Amino acid sequence: MNILLRGGTVVSGSHSKNQDVLISGSKIIKVGRFISDKGAKVVDVSGKLLFPGFIDAHTHFDLEVSDTVTADDFESGTKAAVCGGTTTIIDFATQDKNESINHALNVWHLKSFSKSSCDYAFHMAVSNFNDMVKEDLKSVFEQGVTSFKAYMTYDLMKLSDEQLFSLMDAMKEQGGIVGVHCENDGIIKSLTNKCRQDGTLSVASHPKVRPSIAEAEAISRILSIAMAADVAVIIVHLSSKDGLKMVEQYRNKGCKVYVETCPQYLLLDEGRYDLKGLEGAKYVCSPPLRKKEDCAYLWKAIKSGEIQTVSTDHCSFTLEQKSVGLEDFSKMPNGMPGVETRGILMYTYGVCKRRISIEQMCRVLCENPAKLYGMYPKKGIIKAGSDADIVVLDPKVDGFITKKTHHSKADYTPYEGVRTKGKITSVYLRGMEVVKDGELVLSNKGKYVKRSTNMLEI
Ligand code: URP
Ligand code: ZN
Ligand code: ZN
Repeated sequence: MNILLRGGTVVSGSHSKNQDVLISGSKIIKVGRFISDKGAKVVDVSGKLLFPGFIDAHTHFDLEVSDTVTADDFESGTKAAVCGGTTTIIDFATQDKNESINHALNVWHLKSFSKSSCDYAFHMAVSNFNDMVKEDLKSVFEQGVTSFKAYMTYDLMKLSDEQLFSLMDAMKEQGGIVGVHCENDGIIKSLTNKCRQDGTLSVASHPKVRPSIAEAEAISRILSIAMAADVAVIIVHLSSKDGLKMVEQYRNKGCKVYVETCPQYLLLDEGRYDLKGLEGAKYVCSPPLRKKEDCAYLWKAIKSGEIQTVSTDHCSFTLEQKSVGLEDFSKMPNGMPGVETRGILMYTYGVCKRRISIEQMCRVLCENPAKLYGMYPKKGIIKAGSDADIVVLDPKVDGFITKKTHHSKADYTPYEGVRTKGKITSVYLRGMEVVKDGELVLSNKGKYVKRSTNMLEI
C-alpha cells in the first residue's frame, strides 16, 4: 500500500515548502501540493518538518583500536543511527598494514551483513599504500567504494608523504577521492614523550600534545600534496580555526578541498579535559576538542558554505574501556559516541539558535554528503525517484539528551542532560517506517549502498 505523508514542510538544501509526499514501495513517487491517492495510507504530518534521511559519512563500527574493539558494532551502531534520523552511514573498512584492501572490504561486509538497521556504505581506510593496493583499487571501486581515508598519525595506519602522494595520484585514474586525518605525528609524539618525562600523564595533557597548529601543519602538507597530484581532497573531522584558516589559504591558491566537521567540535570545548578521572576521559578523541572561539569559527564556516559536511566520527568505547588510559592518556582509546544525537543537536543548536538555516542543515547532513560520496539523488533529497528515506521532526516537542534512552553500547553520551528542541518522531527507510513515535520498531533492514563518484560542486 502506498503511503501519503500529508501536510508537512519538505526541507531541501535550497528551500522548505509545504508539500505532500507519496511513497510507493521503497521509492518516493510524487512530491507536491494536494496529492491524492485513494488507496494510500494517509499520514497527517502537518506542523512537522520532513528532511531527507540524514547521512553520516564518518562512523567506526566494530573497529579494533588500541588493543580493544569499539563498543558499537553494526547491530547497535546502526540502531542508534536510525533512531537519530540517520538512514545511511558510511563506515571505514580499515586495512591492516599487511592485508589487501579487498580482504578488508570482505571483512567489513561480513561485519555488517544482515546486522544493519540503516543503509550502509564503506570508505576504505588505507593503512599501507603499495603496488598490491594500487592494483586492487579498480576492483574495490567496482564494488562501490569510491572514497578512501588516509591517516597522517597513528603508527598502525599512518602513510608516509610518498604514500599519500601515490594514493592521491592513483585517484586520478579512477575518479575517487581521499579523506585525510590531519595531525602532525612528530609533534604529537614529541610532546607526549615530554609529558611522560614530566609525569604529566592525566587526561588534561591530551589536548596539549595535539595542538591546533599540529592540525594546521598537516593540512598544509596534505593540501600541497593534493595540489602536486592535481586532485581534490577532503579534510575529515576538522576541529580548529587554525586548520580552517590553512584551508582558506590553499583555496585561494586554487586547491579543491572539501571540509567535514563534527558536532563535538561545534558544541564542546577543551575545558572538558579538566574534569577529573573518567569524566574527562569521555571526551578523549583526536583531534581533541578546542576552544570556544574555534567552535564559533566553525559554525560561521558552515553558514558561509566553507564547511560542506557534518558527520559524527562515532567511535564509541565504554567507560571501562576508557579507564585503561586514566594513568596514561596516551593509552586511552580515542573517540566518542555521537551517531544518535547529530540531527537533533544540529537542529537545536544550529537552526533554532539561528547559527544556520534549516536548508543549510539539510545541505550538511543530507544533500552534500550524498553528492560528495556518489549517492545523489538516490539519497540526500526528497523527490520523485529517490529512496523513500525520510525523517519526520516535530519542532514543537522539547526534550533533553540522556544515555538512558540511547541505543549505543557506550555507557555514556557526551551530551547528557543537554536540552533539545524538536523530536524525531518517525523515520522511513526505503518506505519502511523503522522508527515510530520515537521508538525503533523495525530493525536489521539496512542494505549495502554501492556508490558512484563525487558530484559536489564547490
Ligand atoms: O578519536 C577519534 N576520532 N577516533 C576515531 C578514529 C579517527 O581518527 O577518525
Ligand atoms: Zn580520523
Ligand atoms: Zn574517524
